[in-house]
Amino acid sequence: MNIIFDTSTHAETVHLGRLLAGMLRPGMVVALRGDLGAGKTTLVKGIASGLTGIDERDVTSPTFTILQEYNGPVTLYHVDAYRLDSARDLDAVGFDDCVDGSGVTVVEWADRVSEALPGEALIVTIEQTGDQQRRFCLQAATPQQARDLKRLSGMLRAGDGRTDEHTSG
Ligand SMILES: Nc1ncnc2c1ncn2[C@@H]1O[C@H](COP(=O)(O)OP(=O)(O)OP(=O)(O)O)[C@@H](O)[C@H]1O
Ligand SMILES: [Mg+2]
Repeated sequence: MNIIFDTSTHAETVHLGRLLAGMLRPGMVVALRGDLGAGKTTLVKGIASGLTGIDERDVTSPTFTILQEYNGPVTLYHVDAYRLDSARDLDAVGFDDCVDGSGVTVVEWADRVSEALPGEALIVTIEQTGDQQRRFCLQAATPQQARDLKRLSGMLRAGDGRTDEHTSG
């Protein structure tokens, strides 16, 4: 099942990330796909703030560090695979320990390391549809994720955010 959300500001994307954080469970992996400037890190700002309570301004793209860890009630591992050549490069940063642990892992440029990602990763594809418009396609990999995504869209429909939403599949 896929759910599509449209946002038209940076703040709406951060808000979507915060709501999404509410459905992320320990051990889950979120695979982010989308071009330069699509809004991957912006979504992670919301996820990190929702999971750990960190200020969104303290979340930046860890391009040069590859792996950034944010600690809070739930630990968030933030991976940026942009500079990696293959999934094997993830071994060096201890990626398996992140995925096997009790934290949540988000991966920017997930397509570059897709072989290393678990089959149950939640896939988020981001498209720039205007100057400030972004389209988020969230693809559930398990029945539980599908139920949680439905709940998420219900929350948005109930007015907890101005993000537009459509469901398909
Ligand atoms: N609706 C929106 N959602 C997200 N970001 C937006 C939106 N409108 C404008 N922006 C701006 O677009 C930029 C998105 O940058 P961001 O770093 O999140 O992209 P990215 O996908 O992580 O890029 P990169 O591949 O370089 O890491 C930010 O400057 C953000 O403020
Ligand atoms: Mg980024």
